[in-house]
Amino acid sequence: MIEISHLYKQFGNDVVALKDLNLVIDRGEFVFIVGSSGAGKSTLLKLLLKEISPTRGSIKIFGRDITRLKGRQIPLLRRNIGMVFQDFRLLNDRNVFENVAFTLRVTGASSKEIRKRVPLSLELVGLKDKQFKKPDELSGGEQQRVCVARAIVNRPAVVIADEPTGNLDPNTSMEIMKLFEEINVRGTTVIVATHAKELVDYFQKRVVVLDRGRLISDQERGVYIDAHKEPLLFPGGGA
Ligand SMILES: Nc1ncnc2c1ncn2[C@@H]1O[C@H](COP(=O)(O)OP(=O)(O)OP(=O)(O)O)[C@@H](O)[C@H]1O
Ligand SMILES: [Mg+2]
Repeated sequence: MIEISHLYKQFGNDVVALKDLNLVIDRGEFVFIVGSSGAGKSTLLKLLLKEISPTRGSIKIFGRDITRLKGRQIPLLRRNIGMVFQDFRLLNDRNVFENVAFTLRVTGASSKEIRKRVPLSLELVGLKDKQFKKPDELSGGEQQRVCVARAIVNRPAVVIADEPTGNLDPNTSMEIMKLFEEINVRGTTVIVATHAKELVDYFQKRVVVLDRGRLISDQERGVYIDAHKEPLLFPGGGA
């Protein structure tokens, strides 16, 4: 479903954010993208959303090379990709219902459809009783749930999240990650860039490790690998 080949992204003359990246993600997968700060995680996600263009290489999504998409075709691509950010990006002057409905309204959904789909989405994230609250009346975890509801309300094939638990405490982070897992179980492909080592180890999903723009490891049911940590020479004490 997502096929990335020989992808390079360079900023200016000296910053190479991604270097010869090759990655295939199938429908229904759950993939963690990990790596230290500056490894290229956000760059990769932005390329998938076509917020930026690669220097070289191709990105096929649903069989089409998105690097060749014309401007007017980009909204259709984004409609098929739900996005969740670390800093929520909710509209603070609108209530929860309207924040989620907004995504549908811009795609021209009927009010009947909006009245049906928004509550379904809010119910899935456990926030139906907060639909008339404003974002600043909610906890961080609840705000992130609204973002998840917003990301899935269009029923996208893929949900992409960039550090979705970066501003949340460990318990709330776990809840949000379980929500992604549930969305994945219901058939949506999920891609999560994260630093949350404990969560990555707990969920045992596919783990793709980036290091200074290169893909250095890709494991099914993997654990978090820190490329810059000293290797453990004598596991188990070495005696
Ligand atoms: N718009 C930009 N202009 C110039 N350099 C950029 C730009 N965006 C990212 N970079 C650089 O590209 C590299 C990769 O950045 P990226 O944001 O993808 O890292 P990251 O893995 O998401 O890091 P973090 O964990 O801190 O979010 C870094 O060296 C960064 O400074
Ligand atoms: Mg980032």
